[in-house]
Amino acid sequence: MAPLAWWRLALLPALLCLCALPAPARSQSAARPAPASVEGFNCSANASYPCKAYALYRAGFGGVPLDLSAIGDLFAASRFMVAHANNLSTSAVPTAGQPMLVPLQCGCPPRSPNAYAPMQYQINPGDTYWIISTTKLQNLTQYQAVERVNPTLVPTNLDVGTIVTFPIFCQCPTAADNATALVTYVMQAGDNYASIAAAFAVDAQSLVSLNGPEGLTQNLSSPEILVPLRRQVPNWLPPIVRLNNASVTPASPPPSPPPRPTVGTNNRHGVVTGLAIGLGIVGGLWLLQMLLLAYLWRRLKKGRRGEAVASAEGGEGGRFAKPASGGGGGERFLVSDISEWLDKYRVFKVEELESGTGGFDDEHLIQGSVHKAYIDGEVFAVKKMKWDAFEELKILQKVNHSNLVKLEGFCINSETGDCYLVYEYVENGSLDLWLMDRDRARRLDWRARLHIALDLAHGLQYIHEHTWPRVVHKDIKSSNVLLDDRMRAKIANFGLAKTGHNAVTTHIVGTQGYIAPEYLADGLVTTKMDVFAYGVVLLELVSGREAVSDQDGELLWADADQRMFRGKEERLEARVAAWMDPALAEQTCPPGSVASVVSVAKACLHRDPAKRPSMVDVAYTLSKADEHFADYSGESVSVDGSGGVGAR
Ligand SMILES: *[C@@H]1O[C@H](CO)[C@@H](O)[C@H](O)[C@H]1NC(C)=O
Ligand SMILES: *[C@@H]1O[C@H](CO)[C@@H](O)[C@H](O)[C@H]1NC(C)=O
Ligand SMILES: *[C@@H]1O[C@H](CO)[C@@H](O)[C@H](O)[C@H]1NC(C)=O
Ligand SMILES: *[C@@H]1O[C@H](CO)[C@@H](O)[C@H](O)[C@H]1NC(C)=O
Ligand SMILES: *[C@@H]1O[C@H](CO)[C@@H](O)[C@H](O)[C@H]1NC(C)=O
Ligand SMILES: *[C@@H]1O[C@H](CO)[C@@H](O)[C@H](O)[C@H]1NC(C)=O
Ligand SMILES: *[C@@H]1O[C@H](CO)[C@@H](O)[C@H](O)[C@H]1NC(C)=O
Repeated sequence: MAPLAWWRLALLPALLCLCALPAPARSQSAARPAPASVEGFNCSANASYPCKAYALYRAGFGGVPLDLSAIGDLFAASRFMVAHANNLSTSAVPTAGQPMLVPLQCGCPPRSPNAYAPMQYQINPGDTYWIISTTKLQNLTQYQAVERVNPTLVPTNLDVGTIVTFPIFCQCPTAADNATALVTYVMQAGDNYASIAAAFAVDAQSLVSLNGPEGLTQNLSSPEILVPLRRQVPNWLPPIVRLNNASVTPASPPPSPPPRPTVGTNNRHGVVTGLAIGLGIVGGLWLLQMLLLAYLWRRLKKGRRGEAVASAEGGEGGRFAKPASGGGGGERFLVSDISEWLDKYRVFKVEELESGTGGFDDEHLIQGSVHKAYIDGEVFAVKKMKWDAFEELKILQKVNHSNLVKLEGFCINSETGDCYLVYEYVENGSLDLWLMDRDRARRLDWRARLHIALDLAHGLQYIHEHTWPRVVHKDIKSSNVLLDDRMRAKIANFGLAKTGHNAVTTHIVGTQGYIAPEYLADGLVTTKMDVFAYGVVLLELVSGREAVSDQDGELLWADADQRMFRGKEERLEARVAAWMDPALAEQTCPPGSVASVVSVAKACLHRDPAKRPSMVDVAYTLSKADEHFADYSGESVSVDGSGGVGAR
């Protein structure tokens, strides 16, 4: 059987799998009452997504420390957000078993039948979907739902360090619900509607209309129910929920309150990663801007007057919140200490950056305006920006994935108005440098290239599918792909990224050679423009050539179209062999595997954006290609590939 045939077979399950997915959310039955199934609450046709939602979480269970930050970390919320939702001070230490409202950003992603808030969790030794769902996450999700939203992972074979999306069950209210938000509550033994309604100060009838008759939901195989929160006035705080916790016993002895974690340590301990996806997207984004403005303003003021600005009570903060349009909560937020809000980020001092980079010396220059910095024994990459840093910050505070370069902190120079974004330092530099350097290209064997393609697909899949509104990177290219010490790829440079899909822009940005035709022609911004650019990067991986030829300015994708994509399918392999990187041809590199990646590239580069695959399809298909390659090369299937990377 020709290698191409297995490729077709590999595609088949991908297609079947897609067809088997339920129809888009809009066509879902909106019938309420709708108790949760093991996969969560159905998307409701009459609700608008995304929305703010809450989960009721009991402090001190499942080994999660009694600390607002630790609880927030599980749900990608900051200490401030948790404190605010519970009318606590940010330094409060919850008691063991204390019920807490945790804010969520609830959405109904395309093709998902269920509404959920996606939480990123990094797998530790011994973790399974079931253990995490039933202990740390307190049955706010169920393992079946986790399996569904992570279709490319094998639940029985999770590598430590893998990022898994846990879908926290949630729901957005419809007009009929008469609620500002819905709380996901997990029924405990001994609970009934009357006791829950009393604890939340709502009427028991509203629980019936949201969840159906009481008996239905007392089945503890899906114990999640929805409780409405009502409010009449802006800036209203949810009532402090008082529940009888006699029937629950902590899973582990309540740990003593830990010292307040310092910024930036949480992720490194690998407990739970996740930035403020939970920030209300509209509110959160402008709040972040206001926060930076306020921060800068305070720094300026401090500098000018030579005195510390007292924790800007009332008036000052209030004035500053005014310029932004709409939304409540700004004043409330600004009166609190700014560093509390940004406890996910480290605020660097200008002096730290100066000394860490030898005064932004050329010796430390990585690329463009990015310098390498040594600070407190750690290495960072520092990017200097003018005020347009907000766009990138806005995006980065929403995303967190191992295949995206992580933002560690930032710094504002109050004298010059410059803003610096401080990222994790990614050891091996950008992909284009590897491909263009003949020596290094030779060390980048086919397996390593295949894994880079997969990593990129996962990173893009994450920003396309797990963010609301969707993020479009807009500048995918090999120089924005960084390789770490294990030659795993990370997407960098969200400077051009846009939230929002199907936007039309008249200001064309991007990089020649990667720009999708429809964007060039009509300024249409969709995730499919990233898919196109991704197709070009695949061609670079296969050919080792640049997206635009140095000599004659010819576009790589146009050349591939002429010399590879056209003609009989059966002869594709021969055409690929003639076209591909000579450095690859020297190695034992299965031609079928390369041809299969070329087929993916061809699909990604389709002229009609609607005909291009989504990154979900691409990731799935490539992971199949990777398995087949492992079979072919006689190696054991190793998804993390740490053993097979040629560039060590
Ligand atoms: C959804 O809205 C439509 C029209 O507004 C209405 O007829 C229908 O009853 C609603 N469904 C539910 C479950 O509220
Ligand atoms: C939820 O959706 C599934 C199909 O996706 C359907 O079978 C089920 O009846 C729905 N549940 C409710 C309560 O509407
Ligand atoms: C919030 O807490 C303060 C005291 O800590 C209290 O005076 C106030 O009434 C509380 N607000 C609500 C809505 O419970
Ligand atoms: C919940 O339980 C803890 C200890 O298990 C206790 O200290 C706390 O007072 C209880 N809270 C309520 C509201 O009963
Ligand atoms: C979650 O559900 C499982 C099984 O239904 C149960 O054993 C466990 O105690 C529950 N966890 C919590 C925190 O309620
Ligand atoms: C909505 O909730 C408010 C507050 O509980 C209540 O006063 C009002 O009557 C409710 N409206 C409807 C239509 O149920
Ligand atoms: C609870 O679930 C079991 C199966 O898991 C089912 O047999 C039983 O009828 C359910 N109970 C109710 C009240 O729905």
